[in-house]
Amino acid sequence: MAARSLDESVYILEPMTLDDIEEVAAVERLCFSNPWPLAAYRRELRDNRGNYYIVLRDDPDAEAVGDFPVQYGASAPRRQGRFAFWPLGKRDIRKQAPPIIGFAGMWHVMDEAHVTTIAVSPDYQGRGLGELLFSTLVDETIRREATWLTLEVRVSNYSAQQLYRKYGFTIQGKRARYYTDNNEDAYIMWSESFRNPAYIDQIDVLRRRLHHKLSFATSGVSS
Ligand SMILES: CC(C)(COP(=O)(O)OP(=O)(O)OC[C@H]1O[C@@H](n2cnc3c(N)ncnc32)[C@H](O)[C@@H]1OP(=O)(O)O)[C@@H](O)C(=O)NCCC(=O)NCCS
Repeated sequence: MAARSLDESVYILEPMTLDDIEEVAAVERLCFSNPWPLAAYRRELRDNRGNYYIVLRDDPDAEAVGDFPVQYGASAPRRQGRFAFWPLGKRDIRKQAPPIIGFAGMWHVMDEAHVTTIAVSPDYQGRGLGELLFSTLVDETIRREATWLTLEVRVSNYSAQQLYRKYGFTIQGKRARYYTDNNEDAYIMWSESFRNPAYIDQIDVLRRRLHHKLSFATSGVSS
């Protein structure tokens, strides 16, 4: 699928549903050497309290919605600063769903959330969309009032590590031969504490920069 230019694109973030799984798996096969079996997605989606899975679509017919809410941060009203879900565009749900170009997911237990997957279709990489997905997971972690977000990443996956470093994540350990396809080690990366207001402010700055970069017009505060 050929990517359109940024100007033409309206991206839509939606919760992943069972109907999305085959398309997600197709994107995953383009991005990962060890894709999940479809059953793994079904299992993850069954627990929609602890788990959070989203898809990113590119919809030529969607309308961008509203203005970007500028007030974020620890001092912002909860409703504004900690949103569950950020609709970037509104699509006509009577029409066939537009193509999925990326997805991400995490689970959350008590104080900790864990990124399980994140990917952007190769044609769409390098436009800020991986960051959009990742910052949405970060936002959801903050909204759930978890303190930490963690993940594993291949030691060779420099670009993903850079994305996580940008959001203040640091390497705190290594899991030997974590990836079974080639026995590669994983770095374990952790966020800083989301109880730290300075860290929340740092994330707000990144989010604003990202929204500026993507030139989205959004009002997406839903609570
Ligand atoms: C990792 C991935 C999701 C990043 O998505 P993306 O849309 O290409 O990345 P973005 O354009 O949003 O870039 C965001 C940040 O990521 C980092 N990054 C992305 N591509 C990079 C590259 N080629 N080299 C170095 N850093 C890179 C940078 O920090 C970048 O911020 P910047 O633009 O301010 O420099 C994407 O490359 C992907 O799907 N890879 C295959 C699947 C995968 O490896 N997932 C991670 C599993 S842990």
